[in-house]
Amino acid sequence: MQTITTLAELRHALAQARKEGKRVGLVPTMGYLHEGHLALVQASRTRSDITVVSIFVNPTQFGPNEDLSTYPRDFIRDEQLCRNAGVTIVFAPDTREVYPTTFETFVEPGDLATPLCGAYRPGHFRGVATVVCKLFNMVQPDIAFFGQKDFQQCAVIRRMAVDLNLPVDIVTIPTIRESDGLAMSSRNRYLSDEERRRALTISRGLFAAADKFRSGERDVENLVAAAREQLSSVDRLQYLELVDSHTLKAAESPLQRPAALCVAAYVGSTWLIDNVILSFPAPDGQRSPGS
Ligand code: PAF
Repeated sequence: MQTITTLAELRHALAQARKEGKRVGLVPTMGYLHEGHLALVQASRTRSDITVVSIFVNPTQFGPNEDLSTYPRDFIRDEQLCRNAGVTIVFAPDTREVYPTTFETFVEPGDLATPLCGAYRPGHFRGVATVVCKLFNMVQPDIAFFGQKDFQQCAVIRRMAVDLNLPVDIVTIPTIRESDGLAMSSRNRYLSDEERRRALTISRGLFAAADKFRSGERDVENLVAAAREQLSSVDRLQYLELVDSHTLKAAESPLQRPAALCVAAYVGSTWLIDNVILSFPAPDGQRSPGS
């Protein structure tokens, strides 16, 4: 495995692979890797010849009062995890490599970036879209992998790739959870034991709603209420919304199209997000899309 910090070295390292017609997979991360990231690496390894993991805590996606300076970092551990997971290249540029002092051009996402996290984190998806677009241009992957936990991020990136004709396939991998259901996140390490127990109500709420949906409930208010009942232990619920999974607009009742129940909440001072997708079973004898 190679660790590379500059764009020049990266281009050099990938040039030969490209000449040999090798397929390049990219797993963009902000480091402090966990099983969720490693599942993305695994998916990349099965679908590409070369897996590049980028590790870059992107300043432009953090608001002024957010956790950029305290965002967990452990590069040595990340490198080891990547080596063990069979990653080909770790690309870990510093801030000036990605954003030289002359930098002034951003990618501005549209309506998909407005609801949910977009309503509480102004500029967040502009920062995400910009850095992901830059990483796509730097690595020029054939395929890139993202986790479903960041549901809105996936929607914004997919749309960006289509709108800007970026020649990369975007693959979303289901959320990886701890054995008790908590969605894996680098921010989980901020939680005390007591907060960790209360954080569990987030996934419990989502699963309660998903169970109701599976039992035939289609009323949006009832589905949201099923989740909300469980969520009393979080310190501040930022949003709990059932949205159309393609447009991210509020889902219409009764549900007739695939929807995502998305939540963001603070437990102590830790901000956590999670979601479940409520998709309709395929008619008998047909495979559902994506199965
Ligand atoms: O999901 C993340 O870790 C980040 O938002 C990403 C996609 C690496 C961009 O900085």
